[in-house]
Amino acid sequence: MTSNPQFDHVIPATASPTVEFVSQIHWNPSTEINPIAHRGLDRAWVREYSRALDEGGFDYTLVPYFSSSPEPFVLGSFVGAVTERIKPVIALRPNHTFPLVAAQKLATLDQLTEGRALVHLISGGFDAEQRRQGDFLTKDERYARTSEYIDLLRLAWTTKTPVSHDGQFYRFEDFGPGFATYSGEPIPISIGGESDAAFNIGSAKADWYAFNSGASLAQTRADFDRVAALAAAAGRPTPRFWVTFRPIIARTDAQAWDKAYDYAARAGKSAGAFKAAIAGKSATLPAQSEGARRQLAYAEAAERYDRAVWTGTTRATGGGGASTALVGSPETVAAAILDYVDAGASVVSIRGYDTLQDAKDYGQYILPLVRQELAQRAATGRRGSLQSEHLGYYSDEFNSAADRASEKVGALA
Ligand SMILES: Cc1cc2nc3c(=O)[nH]c(=O)nc-3n(C[C@H](O)[C@H](O)[C@H](O)COP(=O)(O)O)c2cc1C
Repeated sequence: MTSNPQFDHVIPATASPTVEFVSQIHWNPSTEINPIAHRGLDRAWVREYSRALDEGGFDYTLVPYFSSSPEPFVLGSFVGAVTERIKPVIALRPNHTFPLVAAQKLATLDQLTEGRALVHLISGGFDAEQRRQGDFLTKDERYARTSEYIDLLRLAWTTKTPVSHDGQFYRFEDFGPGFATYSGEPIPISIGGESDAAFNIGSAKADWYAFNSGASLAQTRADFDRVAALAAAAGRPTPRFWVTFRPIIARTDAQAWDKAYDYAARAGKSAGAFKAAIAGKSATLPAQSEGARRQLAYAEAAERYDRAVWTGTTRATGGGGASTALVGSPETVAAAILDYVDAGASVVSIRGYDTLQDAKDYGQYILPLVRQELAQRAATGRRGSLQSEHLGYYSDEFNSAADRASEKVGALA
């Protein structure tokens, strides 16, 4: 097999020299491919899962927020208490907590975990979900509120003297100094979303800019450029870029493809049941989040992108949250992650469909490969051979393995 010239030894100018890995907290063992009836939060399982992330070398874990989920500050505090190094990223919707109180809660968590707290601010992609907890603003208004919220979080963490504020959404008198963070510096703030309002506010104010479901490399590069230009126009440094994938890995590429089609079939069945259960209540969900809409559009446009991106899981489940897969052996998937690092991503979220086992597998097989490549680059100034030796769709063999797995599913149907 000849090397693809795209993957020679020259490190691209856009490449991030470092990468950190994020997962996401689940509160019981139920997954899309193996849904189980569960009463809610399984304490022992959350502890085991959190420790698996910690021991596997993950750096962060998102503690998500939904009106029907456990409360992320409480859950994040538990995650912090049962782990040594992983940093909980608290998903926070501004509508439910006054900003100065949120700053106080985050600083408390940060001190409890000795500097491990982060926050991901959610403006809300879906009116119906926001209204369930009393938030009746339009999406653009919600993003404007997030903008004021960020200013007030940073103010609360840094003001040394009392201040008063009379803004568009918040008003208070004589606040400060507040409760300090562990380092005394503001806690990093992440924003996600793919609407114009998300790009405008997130680029101008956030420390991290997050994308919820992996897109093609071309689209990702265009999005990164857009964020960088908007940040520069606002006089801010470019935020760190966070991309999200749900890898499906096995020992060989061919085995990973068999697993991928099996997972898509199983996840599709449970997504069908889930949609039937919420039909009527949330029938407008997918149309309102631009991120969700774009994800479905990618999936409709193509099933295979770049080295190893697969939208079969998005097609099967209808998307919505993170659903785009990277499929292949650990080497192929690590090479695909490096393609996004080369585009400028320095935060990579990977979580699977078999959550606990996948967290262990990624920690054992994926993270070391990516880190080894970046260590080699730092030591030699040259790109290593992982990307040129594991070409994914850039090779005929990989496409044939995917075709064969796809045909097996057809034969079974
Ligand atoms: C990495 C990441 C994690 C997210 N986690 C949540 C979450 O836990 N709960 C939620 O309601 N929205 C979550 N979102 C959604 C967004 O923060 C945002 O509110 C939504 O994408 C806005 O829609 P837009 O794409 O139309 O701008 C997440 C987004 C990203 C990028």
